[in-house]
Amino acid sequence: MTIDLTTHFTGLKFVNPFVLASAPPTESKRKIMKAFDAGWGGVVTKTIGLHPVENVAGPKTIYQRTGETKPYVSREKRPDTVSHSSWNWELISDQPLDQWLPDLKEIKTAYPDRMVIASIMAGAGNDEEMANWQKLARACVDVGCDALELNLSCPHMDRKDMGAHIANDEDIIRWVLKAVTDAVDVPIWVKLTPSSSSLVSGAAAAYAAGASSISLCNTFPSLPLMDPETLKFEVEVDGLVTSGGQAGLAILNQALERVSSISRAHPDQAISGIGGIKGFREAFNFIVHGAGNLQICTAAMEEKGSGGVGVKLIQELTGDLSDYLERKGYASIEDFRGIARARIVEHSQIRRKSEDYNGGYAESA
Ligand SMILES: Cc1cc2nc3c(=O)[nH]c(=O)nc-3n(C[C@H](O)[C@H](O)[C@H](O)COP(=O)(O)O)c2cc1C
Repeated sequence: MTIDLTTHFTGLKFVNPFVLASAPPTESKRKIMKAFDAGWGGVVTKTIGLHPVENVAGPKTIYQRTGETKPYVSREKRPDTVSHSSWNWELISDQPLDQWLPDLKEIKTAYPDRMVIASIMAGAGNDEEMANWQKLARACVDVGCDALELNLSCPHMDRKDMGAHIANDEDIIRWVLKAVTDAVDVPIWVKLTPSSSSLVSGAAAAYAAGASSISLCNTFPSLPLMDPETLKFEVEVDGLVTSGGQAGLAILNQALERVSSISRAHPDQAISGIGGIKGFREAFNFIVHGAGNLQICTAAMEEKGSGGVGVKLIQELTGDLSDYLERKGYASIEDFRGIARARIVEHSQIRRKSEDYNGGYAESA
């Protein structure tokens, strides 16, 4: 029996629910086309902006591994280690909008059944920046992009009016969404930062202002490790480093918690799950917490011989999902999406040995 993995998400039809996240795997026409040939259902492009971008004069991403014998985390090459996480301080795309537009048009023409979501980013706080959001949005939609993802989550911006800095400000979320929804008529996904203490209310503001979905998580703000012998950071330029973003398997549990919080507060709204997906089991976990779409970055980048787009990975993901649906008699991911929601409760609702625990309050309920 052939299992149909078609998934409808934010009004778009995906041949399967697996999408390459905004990052190096989606930074060029060549990579995106290779990804579609391999079978990915969609891509979110590397974030496109209008401001000047220049990356650090050194490696932009490292891959950290850990092992059983000496279970420390390091980018150091050692035998018998497994992937722990990626760490990066890469800025958004340094390819200008004018170069992206013909590429996006060609990609959409060549792969009409695959979803191309343009990730865009501008600043905030004045009309000029709102016009920049609109310019980016209109340009990408005019060349055929199926949806937009607003990057309100890049964790390494000096500019205080951009990226993760503005995801804590619900007024800015509303202004940006108003500008973009006034300009275009496609689904708008909003990518938020997991490091916000007001994530659930930020998501509420975004949904109320017209977001079709929240994408979560971007990378977690973090520092690379220092080697005790050399006293060098594992990635640095001239001995200096700055806060960057951690991704990959090490963020999985934290990402699930963030997705679950939003999904429980907004069970009828769409959410795209990102963070640490390496195979079907991780994807499954996002789906049971409510995600209707899965985005993947580090695992695709790490796959040797795939040009960093996860050729074997997408085959495994679709194969394992098909097997699971068939074995369980499910028609689609909708049959188990969100089933974990009702089982995430307050601490005091978890059974104790005695009957009278009252959540730490003196009086029994
Ligand atoms: C090197 C690198 C560059 C990234 N660039 C972007 C970006 O331009 N825009 C964006 O929204 N997210 C960016 N991300 C974040 C990813 O899209 C994704 O949210 C994150 O890596 C978590 O997914 P993962 O655990 O599958 O890697 C980047 C991640 C990495 C590792």
